[in-house]
Amino acid sequence: MGQNLHMTSGETRESQYEALSRQWPALFMGETNRTANLANAAAVLMSAFGWHWVGFYLVDFESDELVLGPFQGPLACTRLFHGKGVCAAAWDTKLAQVVADVEAFPGHVVCSSKTKSELVLPILVDDDVVAVLDIDSDERNDFTKMDAAGLRPLVDCLSENWIEWK
Ligand code: SME
Repeated sequence: MGQNLHMTSGETRESQYEALSRQWPALFMGETNRTANLANAAAVLMSAFGWHWVGFYLVDFESDELVLGPFQGPLACTRLFHGKGVCAAAWDTKLAQVVADVEAFPGHVVCSSKTKSELVLPILVDDDVVAVLDIDSDERNDFTKMDAAGLRPLVDCLSENWIEWK
């Protein structure tokens, strides 16, 4: 990654997603280390949107658990399990989870009491979930389907590169 991102404040979040998706592939150019690339992905999302927590949980195929990966924000739970919480719901269903009020989500895993709403997108390779992108907001109702759709091209880029990154 050898360039700065060009984001203008005052844009709608939708147009920010569009601007970011155009610049996103350049973030990873010339680097095949997965940890390094996911760390920069989390950093860019945090600096662009200022959410409470942004990061990745990666599937550990040996233990069959989600394990904390690169993130930005406060201390987080290190392992998540099938059937419990928002990240696991994205993992189990292979579908984005848009949660307007985490307190109303049965089994929500509380890593930070400040989290009020949450968006989780699964990262798929050959129809298997390999990781999830988890975003927490300290405001209720901060995410809609528009956010899931806007972030989808970014997550698709990670999926496409996943196998080449070690
Ligand atoms: N709330 C998530 C756990 C991860 S943290 O928010 C960083 C969940 O319910 O899966």
